Amino acid sequence: MKPYLIAPSILSANFTKLGEEVDKVLEAGADVVHFDVMDNHYVPNLTIGPLVCQALRKHGVTADIDVHLMVQPVDDMIKQFADAGASYISFHPEASQHVDRSLQLIIDSGCKPGLVFNPATPLQLLDHVMDKLHHILLMSVNPGFGGQSFIPHSLDKLKQTRALIDESGLDIRLEIDGGVKIDNIRAIAAAGADMFVAGSAIFGEANYQKVIEQMRTELALVN
Ligand code: DX5
Ligand code: ZN
Repeated sequence: MKPYLIAPSILSANFTKLGEEVDKVLEAGADVVHFDVMDNHYVPNLTIGPLVCQALRKHGVTADIDVHLMVQPVDDMIKQFADAGASYISFHPEASQHVDRSLQLIIDSGCKPGLVFNPATPLQLLDHVMDKLHHILLMSVNPGFGGQSFIPHSLDKLKQTRALIDESGLDIRLEIDGGVKIDNIRAIAAAGADMFVAGSAIFGEANYQKVIEQMRTELALVN
């Protein structure tokens, strides 16, 4: 297994001081910045675009930025986010007409490609593209909003995905997004995840370092 990565979702940060918030959460021990892009079309909410990603880079953020595209169509946003300093870019396969082409576009832009699966999206969509993936992102809530509860069936889906990755022999990260908290992160890791997005659990507390440390304490107990 790869080392665990904790990726705070800035969706739950204070947007009036986003640069400081990102600095603070990275100083608190976060590994990666999770950046949720919503277009009020693929999902019923509207958030932040490439300008904000670029602004974080100009502010001095050097950590990996994990761009989660909840947009349709996707290809134009891939180019714009790659130019804006994204590190990872993932999209929902239903939102792209040509999944293989969109993945290749991410690779050709110099970013690390991922595919995102909604709670009801079947894993069969992985069948012919596994070799192109840097990460698989399983949604454990329906996309569109922070602060929702973890859907328990996601644990089974994580186990199935972990088995597929292990069988493939490929080096693919398994990321989970939605409702991740201190009290469920250990079970989520035991089911096979190695990268954990957490928005409200981290930004909803005054002391980010304490939450991240408690998460790592839980992760250290996974066997
Ligand atoms: C939901 C987003 C998530 C969200 C997670 O569509 O993809 O990244 O911000 O938030 P929490 O951790 O609060 O469920
Ligand atoms: Zn997300």
